[in-house]
Amino acid sequence: INYKENYRGQYHFSPRSEWMNDINGLVYQGGKYHMIYQWGNKIRHGGYATSHDLLHWKDQGVALIPQNSFLPPDAKRNVSGNEVYSGSAVVVSGETAMKITGSEKEAIIAIYTGTGKGTCLAWSNNNGKTWQDYQGNPVGNLTDDAIPRDPCVFWHEPSSKWILAIYENGTTFYGSSDLIQWDYLSNINFGYECPDMFQLPLDGDENNMKWVLLDANGSYLVGEFDGTTFRKDESQQTFMMDVGPDFYAAQTFPMGNLPNNDPRIIQIAWMDHWNGGIGEIVWERNATFPVSLGLKTLNEQIRITRNPINEISTIYENTKVWDSQLIKVGTNLLKGVHSKKFELSLEFDLTGSTALNLGIKVANRYIIYDLYNKTLLSNELLPDDANHISIKLLVDWGQLEVFGNEGTFSYTQQFAFSPDHDNIELFSDGDIQLISMEFHELARTW
Ligand code: FRU
Repeated sequence: INYKENYRGQYHFSPRSEWMNDINGLVYQGGKYHMIYQWGNKIRHGGYATSHDLLHWKDQGVALIPQNSFLPPDAKRNVSGNEVYSGSAVVVSGETAMKITGSEKEAIIAIYTGTGKGTCLAWSNNNGKTWQDYQGNPVGNLTDDAIPRDPCVFWHEPSSKWILAIYENGTTFYGSSDLIQWDYLSNINFGYECPDMFQLPLDGDENNMKWVLLDANGSYLVGEFDGTTFRKDESQQTFMMDVGPDFYAAQTFPMGNLPNNDPRIIQIAWMDHWNGGIGEIVWERNATFPVSLGLKTLNEQIRITRNPINEISTIYENTKVWDSQLIKVGTNLLKGVHSKKFELSLEFDLTGSTALNLGIKVANRYIIYDLYNKTLLSNELLPDDANHISIKLLVDWGQLEVFGNEGTFSYTQQFAFSPDHDNIELFSDGDIQLISMEFHELARTW
């Protein structure tokens, strides 16, 4: 295992070996970022990785080992449940820590579904080095087998309590003061698997915070949450935050958890790849590149925006910048640019364009903007008020992420980037005005 296997992302997290699925707990604690994830296809475990910058991840192996684990007997079955199914994580200290861990020391608490047992807690109060079972598992009376499942816990400041959103008849909310005793609050007929929930400022206005509830598919509601009930804004439609085939079970770091009062809501999802094998053997599946989320009003609807975190600029290499110019049939500004792991950002003015199709070809994959239907990869991407569109690609050996118009468009896909090809092409079937283009090779982060 050298992290250079065909198709393995060079700046995307993937497990050292075996299978991963959902992201199950993102927290900053003890000076580093922690990520728990679903690991092991036959029996699900809590895989675990850490990072100092959200870019360079170190797979720490398996942290939560359930009772039915297939690992050799010397791997201690350290947590409750036949399998560790999905969940989330929070950081506590003082009294709450005392009740769960027996010490007031700051601790990471993982809340997950232990199959055959119910909603369970596991904890670490040595910065993730070792993990322990909570002796009183399961918590609350959520003791059914695999439904309810996928608990997402967050602190609700206005009502000073923990809220648990769980996949159960859509999404069901419970409230608690200690993460142990849970009281039923309400239910909403929305969502399939792995809920996540957080607050974001609308159009950057911190006096206009909105709640977002999303499910594993990336479909989301925007509205109000009063500590008991989630109410979707009346005129608001339900959208998908990512229209690609391989986006699933995303999670965010808890609100207020990031260092230096960083207000961002940073999200990582599972790149699932249900649509065919890309031939991974050593490892299977991976995580998306971390994005920062926002809320933007667009055509009288509120839309989630997803933008790769700014930290990406710290791994830029071999930058190339092009001037504004008219692209014509047969112009390929990217001729001579070779890479399999890069970021490419483009902006076009559609005014006066005679082109019907504008495209980028990456190895054998076409990414086409259709100017007639105003679609990117067959999904709607309308030009902005200035009649511009912007497109950003993240390409990484076996992964493709496409962002459009400041992140209102997002498309995530695993793709078989032929190991032998590193060509990139920009083409159009008519004239179109390029406003700007920037290319950055991205450094390997393993
Ligand atoms: C979603 C999911 C969850 C479940 C987990 C098991 O991908 O089915 O609902 O907890 O995977 O790995």
